[in-house]
Amino acid sequence: MPTPTTLAERQTASHANGHAASSLAGHSRTILSTIYEPVAAELAEVEQRLAGELRSDYPFVDELVRYGCLLGGKRMRPALLLLVAKAIAGRVNEAHLTLATVVEMIHTATLVHDDVLDEAAMRRHLATVNSRWDNEASVLLGDFLFSHAFYLASTLDSTVGCRRIGRATNIVCEGELRQKGSRGNFLLPEQEYLEIIEAKTAELTAVSARLGAEFAGSSESLASEMDGFGRDLGIAFQIADDLLDVQGEEQATGKSLGTDLEKQKPTLPIIRALALADNADRATMLELLQSDARRPELLAPLLQRYEALDYARQKGQYFADRARERLSGLSASPAREVLAAMTQFVMSRSV
Ligand code: IPE
Ligand code: IPE
Ligand code: MG
Ligand code: MG
Repeated sequence: MPTPTTLAERQTASHANGHAASSLAGHSRTILSTIYEPVAAELAEVEQRLAGELRSDYPFVDELVRYGCLLGGKRMRPALLLLVAKAIAGRVNEAHLTLATVVEMIHTATLVHDDVLDEAAMRRHLATVNSRWDNEASVLLGDFLFSHAFYLASTLDSTVGCRRIGRATNIVCEGELRQKGSRGNFLLPEQEYLEIIEAKTAELTAVSARLGAEFAGSSESLASEMDGFGRDLGIAFQIADDLLDVQGEEQATGKSLGTDLEKQKPTLPIIRALALADNADRATMLELLQSDARRPELLAPLLQRYEALDYARQKGQYFADRARERLSGLSASPAREVLAAMTQFVMSRSV
């Protein structure tokens, strides 16, 4: 059988090979490991570096660090960085491997802290650090990961990587803070919602793609196109994530869902329905959203009435499509095909 090239072919191949797991989670994960194939060896190296870097001589710390970091994630940001590098230079170099390890550490740190903010119970199919240990352990583990990531980035000869990652991480934290500041403000304009998700999620995917390009010796214009690619992909990814929070299966995502509503985060479906609703429906929705016993099942028909979930899906698709168009500056290669396949995966994923 020839090597599958399109996502559809890869999906078919994964079924044909008998790898497709029965659960949705297994299915999407199989697709992912199949589509990362052009950088599989490099991703395995990143995995080893994470395991090598994230350890401690103190058993309590060691257990915590290993538990929080080494299991279960999709590794999308390192994959993005390595794939862009490979698409441009045909190979991945030592700096790319370091930077791929760094972006995954930063990402994991934000998740560990995010689960404290959201009081989430499950992450990557395991109990969150805050629920298995406590918030104190989570805060300190997040700090450990952030500081280790910056230390590692500073070992590179060039200061560019560390500077870009520092700036991006700062914007991510600002995005999380802006989100905290907008809790309960369901009348948040859609534009502001988009800015917040661009900061909290897309900044890190943008910098991952940009660093893949810059450290492959690309021109500034191509690096900035790759930044745009990662940014659009990240925005689509977060819109899909917000849809999963309403419609997804915890068994598949492996993380607590419904926390956006719980924590009164205004997300696109709610913002859209409120923007279109007549006065009576708007009042009903606001009351449901603000009451202590939030009832997603009472909200669902209102989201349906204003086709708010469909709207959010279309918006996510718009950014995913725009991301794909930005790949036209790369010459044809298996790595470029995978980047294109990722623009499909972000909106179709169940994990
Ligand atoms: C979760 O990111 C946080 C968001 C930006 C929505 P991922 O879905 O990439 O998390 P892991 O790394 O696979 O666990
Ligand atoms: C993404 O937001 C969090 C970060 C970018 C750190 P969410 O709160 O939606 O992420 P999940 O759903 O918990 O993974
Ligand atoms: Mg969360
Ligand atoms: Mg979410």
